[in-house]
Amino acid sequence: MAMASHLLILLVGAVAVTAATETAHFLGVNYGRLGDDLPPPPIALELARSAGAAAVRFYDANDTFLSPAAASGLLFVPGVPNELIPNLAASQLAADEWVAATLLPFRRNRRFRYLFVGNEVLSDPTTKSRWFQLVPAMANLRRALRRHGMRRVKVSTTVGMDAIVGQDVFPPSAAAFRADIAGDVVRPLIAFLERTGSYLFVDAYTYFTWRANHTVVPLHYALLETASSSPSSPSTSPAFQYYDEGTGLYYENLFDQMLDAVVAAMCRLGHCGVRLAVAETGWPNAGDLDEFGANARNAATYNRNVARRLASGAGTLRRPGMTMPAFVFALFNENLKTGPTTERH
Ligand SMILES: *[C@@H]1O[C@H](CO)[C@@H](O)[C@H](O)[C@H]1NC(C)=O
Ligand SMILES: *[C@@H]1O[C@H](CO)[C@@H](O)[C@H](O)[C@H]1NC(C)=O
Repeated sequence: MAMASHLLILLVGAVAVTAATETAHFLGVNYGRLGDDLPPPPIALELARSAGAAAVRFYDANDTFLSPAAASGLLFVPGVPNELIPNLAASQLAADEWVAATLLPFRRNRRFRYLFVGNEVLSDPTTKSRWFQLVPAMANLRRALRRHGMRRVKVSTTVGMDAIVGQDVFPPSAAAFRADIAGDVVRPLIAFLERTGSYLFVDAYTYFTWRANHTVVPLHYALLETASSSPSSPSTSPAFQYYDEGTGLYYENLFDQMLDAVVAAMCRLGHCGVRLAVAETGWPNAGDLDEFGANARNAATYNRNVARRLASGAGTLRRPGMTMPAFVFALFNENLKTGPTTERH
């Protein structure tokens, strides 16, 4: 086991789960497994815990990993793979059977509270039929969970920032969901989440938004290195605030701005009240030559600051005091992922 190849950024500031309150605040870590050099589950889970994570999120529901996670004392979030969505949407029986076969062992485990149905389903235009099967699959799985005595489990899904038109968060108050999903998919999705008291889980990486616009947006704004978030950091950069003319609000970091863009997009569809949470955030610790800013130092800074920000309970300008579950990406570098180098780091 080559532990040296795993770069684990300490999640300083992670806090424990707030007891049984409806708006759970905790910081977890994504446990992706697309690597051929990853340690066995008990060691991985111990790494997650020692880094300060209160929860682990999986991209599937493989018992080899779920069972040790369930016994670890951490919160654990299983995922329903995208490929299963058509079948689970088409048949209540299929959903009942999947829940019985996969999740029944965890029926009484109070640390099983969320189920993610699919991962960034709305980002993939090559499987567009699944977009329309997503909410029916979520509804069938929710019924199946209730039938099997797991009422407490909130059913959700994860949404990338590409669900927002042009991924444009400038200004956040003008953000809207893409026209090809807004009315037909996102509106029923957020109606479902609101009705069931669940969260919309977004994948929000300030890194990519900053990189696309680095001539305008300073790095420290993307790293949450503001005076209030990091009193100890040397003030090498001038203060930067982004002014949203639509709301008259001044933003002090890009993370809040991105979350408020999603809030604005939900409000635009008439569902202002849906709770928001973060399925993935983080910063790449390495990248290709043109992927500037991707390095371990920035990654550590970002993770530290975002953990502190979330733990502060400050919320965002549109949602002051908002607390939410959030997961850093990721526990490991994953050497079998394709795409640019940042994907593997
Ligand atoms: C679960 O993961 C183990 C270990 O990687 C693997 O051997 C097994 O085939 C997986 N099971 C399923 C159902 O994918
Ligand atoms: C870059 O930032 C400016 C405002 O500072 C904004 O008008 C523009 O839309 C942004 N571009 C992208 C690609 O986000």
